[in-house]
Amino acid sequence: MTPPNEAVADQRSRDKDKSEGGVKSEGGSHLISNKKLGDVVLHADNISLSFGGVKAIADVSFEIREREILAIIGPNGAGKTSMLNCINGFYHPQHGTITYRGVTRSQMQPYLAAKSGIARTFQNVALFRGMSVLDNIMAGRLLKMSGVTRGLADRIVEKSPALSAVRRAKRHPLLKFGAIPLSWIPAALVSTADFALEAIRIGPAEREEIENRIFVEKIIEFMNIQAIRRVPAGRLPYGLQKRVELARALAAEPHLLLLDEPMAGMNVEEKEDMCRFILDVNDEFGTTIALIEHDMGVVMDISDRVIVLDYGRKIADGSPDEVRANKDVIDAYLGVSHDD
Ligand SMILES: Nc1ncnc2c1ncn2[C@@H]1O[C@H](COP(=O)(O)OP(=O)(O)OP(=O)(O)O)[C@@H](O)[C@H]1O
Ligand SMILES: [Mg+2]
Repeated sequence: MTPPNEAVADQRSRDKDKSEGGVKSEGGSHLISNKKLGDVVLHADNISLSFGGVKAIADVSFEIREREILAIIGPNGAGKTSMLNCINGFYHPQHGTITYRGVTRSQMQPYLAAKSGIARTFQNVALFRGMSVLDNIMAGRLLKMSGVTRGLADRIVEKSPALSAVRRAKRHPLLKFGAIPLSWIPAALVSTADFALEAIRIGPAEREEIENRIFVEKIIEFMNIQAIRRVPAGRLPYGLQKRVELARALAAEPHLLLLDEPMAGMNVEEKEDMCRFILDVNDEFGTTIALIEHDMGVVMDISDRVIVLDYGRKIADGSPDEVRANKDVIDAYLGVSHDD
């Protein structure tokens, strides 16, 4: 067990004390959480993915429940990142389906996954290096921003008879095919409409920008990165870049957060911090989390359930204690000798 686990355990017991909740497990270092898991939010069913002759994922099925922290572990090349890539639409499995919040699909575009509430961080940090921390996090908010503006403007236009009349007229087939010149629409009506449309665009857009900035500032405060909000992301030390990447994912208000080795390359103190942030995101926002991590101490302490991949196959699925005691897992990954 590594030192971060003790700190995480402290943090968790503090949280549990507050919420008359969990109890420390007897004989185990991780804490049993009695938080209520919800229904299954994601079901991966018989997923297989190959790259030429390389079978990255072989017939893997698993579920993730609402509010769960699921750890995906396994040796290098086991297919962990590929699995996250299938969930968020970067990779398209040749076989199998993924059902997310009741919608089943075999293929998905990443922007649709993002739209449906899936956000992620990457094994190799993927920030806009020349952009400030603030702008990077705002970028994570983009999906939300465009929707608000369009929706608001449309609602206002619908309520304005003059504006909607012009819109309807401009869509009329006779105008579309050039039978009636656009200039036939009374000029005064068009210019009034355009002016009003401009005002509508500016008004809500500014309001929206302010609302989004307020939201992003809350994320910045939550992640404790106020002091670096103006610093270009590329100039930050690696540990902080990882934290900014998590902040950017949170800006999208995800229901399901996919974290690919969020603590890789971090020192002990940075790992402690990241563990706390992950637990707090799960506790405070109720976010469901799927997490790839190699630090077994961290995995055992923060996850509700663990699945283990090896050469693309799932070899175990259970509680941290069950997985730690699993002979196949020990042979394939943990590397500790066992009695035969
Ligand atoms: N885009 C790709 N093109 C070709 N092969 C790929 C691609 N992505 C993954 N692979 C292969 O699929 C297998 C699984 O890779 P993946 O990155 O999913 O493993 P991983 O479990 O995340 O490993 P690590 O712990 O090293 O990050 C590997 O053999 C890898 O080389
Ligand atoms: Mg990987």
